[in-house]
Amino acid sequence: MEINFEGKNILVSGAAGHLGEQLVKDYCQSGAATLLLIDSPEHEKDLKKIEKEYEGRTRVKTYIADFRNIEEIIKVVNQIADEGIVVDVLINNAGINIMKKANEMDEEIWDCVVDVNLKGSFFLTKEIGYKSLISQKGNVVFISSQHGVVGNVMRTAYCSSKTGILGLVRALTAEWSVYGVRVNAVSPTYILNEDNESFLMSARERRNMLNKIPLHKYAETEDVSNAIMFLSSDKASMITGHNLVVDGGYTSL
Ligand SMILES: NC(=O)c1ccc[n+]([C@@H]2O[C@H](COP(=O)([O-])OP(=O)(O)OC[C@H]3O[C@@H](n4cnc5c(N)ncnc54)[C@H](O)[C@@H]3O)[C@@H](O)[C@H]2O)c1
Repeated sequence: MEINFEGKNILVSGAAGHLGEQLVKDYCQSGAATLLLIDSPEHEKDLKKIEKEYEGRTRVKTYIADFRNIEEIIKVVNQIADEGIVVDVLINNAGINIMKKANEMDEEIWDCVVDVNLKGSFFLTKEIGYKSLISQKGNVVFISSQHGVVGNVMRTAYCSSKTGILGLVRALTAEWSVYGVRVNAVSPTYILNEDNESFLMSARERRNMLNKIPLHKYAETEDVSNAIMFLSSDKASMITGHNLVVDGGYTSL
């Protein structure tokens, strides 16, 4: 099955992150016309690096917004519209997890996690939705988590935000199906990357985490990107309101 994004303009948030970079690579390889990449101010240089790396292969445009600040999100969406670009696919990938026990959770940490993961993603989707996705009969994929489906320690804000995303997917499906806009989620288990590998592969975390995944392996960024690419492609044209878990069976036990 060949997935093709020729002629499509794809917007990816959190694009300088581990999964974000994989998505940029995969959408570029699948022929996307334009990659619109958003990340936080601290990743401005990384985005410019990506832009340079893909020069001549596809059109890449980069934007900066702190997802805790709705005005910054609206400014980016207006900038994209002023540049005459309509978005066909939105991937809500920006996310943050600050691990704290419930009794150590304070308002600042709670707001940071929930504002980035849930509120920022909603307002980006709302703005892009009414400016582009509805006219394009486009689609949105939110990146939730296995921890949007099941609970875990040290993650009250994270689990709440990721479960909230699943509610948001259902609510937007109810409102936007009439326009032909599809809205889905992908919920990964722990994703291996060069920064977390030594932690995830330590004896303690293999016991705590790996042993709870029936397939007994962590996800790779490609595993998650494959699911996102499928849901955001025409091959999934009958699928909306869905949460595709990419979890090696974690949430089935
Ligand atoms: N890594 C995992 O094990 C795992 C598991 C399940 C779900 N997820 C989810 O997958 C997505 C991608 O995760 P990743 O592993 O690539 O993490 P990552 O930290 O490498 O990437 C996340 C990106 O979000 C951006 N971001 C964070 N705060 C922001 C803010 N205030 N404004 C704008 N952007 C901001 C970061 O700058 C970063 O580029 C996230 O939504 C995450 O919650 C990750």
